[in-house]
Amino acid sequence: MSGQNSDPMVELKRRAAEEAAAMVQDGMAVGLGTGSTAALMIDALGRRWAEGLRFVGIPTSERSAEQARALGITLVDFGSHPQLDLAIDGADEVERGSLDLIKGLGGALLREKIVAAAARRFVVIVDEGKLVDHLGSRSPVPVEVTPFGWESTARQLGELGARVALRIKRDGELFVTDGGNLILDCTFGPIAHPRALEASIGHIVGVIESGLFVSRTSEVIVAGRDGLTRLVA
Ligand code: 5RP
Repeated sequence: MSGQNSDPMVELKRRAAEEAAAMVQDGMAVGLGTGSTAALMIDALGRRWAEGLRFVGIPTSERSAEQARALGITLVDFGSHPQLDLAIDGADEVERGSLDLIKGLGGALLREKIVAAAARRFVVIVDEGKLVDHLGSRSPVPVEVTPFGWESTARQLGELGARVALRIKRDGELFVTDGGNLILDCTFGPIAHPRALEASIGHIVGVIESGLFVSRTSEVIVAGRDGLTRLVA
């Protein structure tokens, strides 16, 4: 994950990731996100760790745990650290006005949401292509569901107005989350009332969590062609 990349957008994302990593201070408990942007941030934290910064991390996926461990970062769990000072993560869509999010195209939404909920500050790093006027404009809403009865859960999600697709990996295998569950990608189109939809999805039996993150964001660092912008909730 380390090293320079000639893609200018990757370089901008790296700057956003470094800006977010610079918010970590000695002694903090930090949630470590998942995805390509979060991986750049973990790399940046690894560089700061090598310079002597000491903090503890709770990773949002096995992938991020492996990366952080390889960099020597100390990982803990909620048993010792039920509350985090800061969590830093990427997103699939950020709604400009509200800073509400869609997350989970990387499949880590459940742990990401638990970590975001446990953090005093939740900082999101994205490239400008992730900004939308209304959530759902480009991305489906990933919903993590129990394998048992997923077909029935999918039918009920369909009744909320979604086109529902069971997530399958490129190799044709079923996508299974770190928690052993399935993902249903639910295409709603532009979502007028994310909070109400999040609640409706959450009421369906068999749903574990949705990738709608409403009123959770403290700040978004946006990497754009003209540089970095910070949007504060
Ligand atoms: C994983 C996520 C990621 O944060 C999201 O998919 C963004 O990833 P990337 O930075 O690679 O675009 O929610 O579950």
